[in-house]
Amino acid sequence: MYADSIRLNYNENTLIKNKKLIRHLKNYASKCNIHPEMLNCGLKKKIAKFYRMEAENVIVGNGIDELAFWTCIALQSANAQIITTENTYRNIEVAGHSLKYNIIKIPLMNYRINIDMVISIMKTISSDKQRKSILYICNPHNPFGTIIDGSFTELLNYCYENSIIIFLDEAYAEYASSNFHSGLEYLQRYDNIIIARTFSKVYGMAGLRCGYLLTRNKYLLNLFNEYSSAQPTNVNYYAQLAATEALDNQVYLAEVKKRNEDNKAYFMRRLTDLDFYCIPSETNFLTIKTDFSSNEDFCKYVFDTNNILIKNCVDFNIEGFVRVTIGKKQNLMKVVSAIKSYAGQTRF
Ligand SMILES: Cc1ncc(COP(=O)(O)O)c(C=O)c1O
Repeated sequence: MYADSIRLNYNENTLIKNKKLIRHLKNYASKCNIHPEMLNCGLKKKIAKFYRMEAENVIVGNGIDELAFWTCIALQSANAQIITTENTYRNIEVAGHSLKYNIIKIPLMNYRINIDMVISIMKTISSDKQRKSILYICNPHNPFGTIIDGSFTELLNYCYENSIIIFLDEAYAEYASSNFHSGLEYLQRYDNIIIARTFSKVYGMAGLRCGYLLTRNKYLLNLFNEYSSAQPTNVNYYAQLAATEALDNQVYLAEVKKRNEDNKAYFMRRLTDLDFYCIPSETNFLTIKTDFSSNEDFCKYVFDTNNILIKNCVDFNIEGFVRVTIGKKQNLMKVVSAIKSYAGQTRF
């Protein structure tokens, strides 16, 4: 049932089909009898070249989710802790939980990760340098679409001095405007950061499963390479092929970004006209404040009336918000109409 629905609930790229990529994958369908390239060597080199780095600093896996789990395995120890923020994408927290990490959550401020707040709370909890700590920063933030507030250098210095590894989830970085600062610019100077990127979002390859980490941390790189050796064919043939192609097709990326910006602005205008507040977003989704008594009921209404799936933010422990992926204009218009008619029934 879900595969046939219009999916505006998982921030997938449903905007423009990557026809070139699909053609390419079809041409290679007959190769499913062969193994993928061992250790993702070709793709690693390609990613390294793209970022002007060494291939040894690139780790490839089945999406950020798998690589976040690897990171938790690598740093697992008695009393290990994950410091994350409230109301944030939860996969590292879930991974950490399964590996018995202590989980600490820092509140957001005005829907943003606030660096001063993060540092001041960390000062109260992580004085023991022997304790393995991962700070998870989701930037741009899911589900609010905001970028971090405050001095990134200050955060990096604090974490460096206190032996805290920062896992910087930049799943939506490619969508962001020039206001966004990636951790990439700090990779050379700090070996305590891991940058996570994915082919699941702007590149439109969520079903293929491919993402990567960039880091200069020798300790982690050694462990990741051991995991890769134990699972030398973890990333499938088609994902490797498509990801290699995708990096060459920056024209597609630019088209998706442009369409995303246009449709997002349109959607936001329509919602604002109806007096709904949307949080300005640097991503491919908009999070909307509703005053409905039940967003669960509202999401069900959108699905029942239009076959469109949207996300109720209670999944992030937030009441009163829904998150909608920026999709095709005709589908966003349907969401706007559904909000209008639902509000007409319940609000006035
Ligand atoms: C912030 C964030 N990180 C990671 C992921 C998962 O990425 P991947 O498909 O590469 O595992 C998502 C997917 O929604 C996400 O929103």
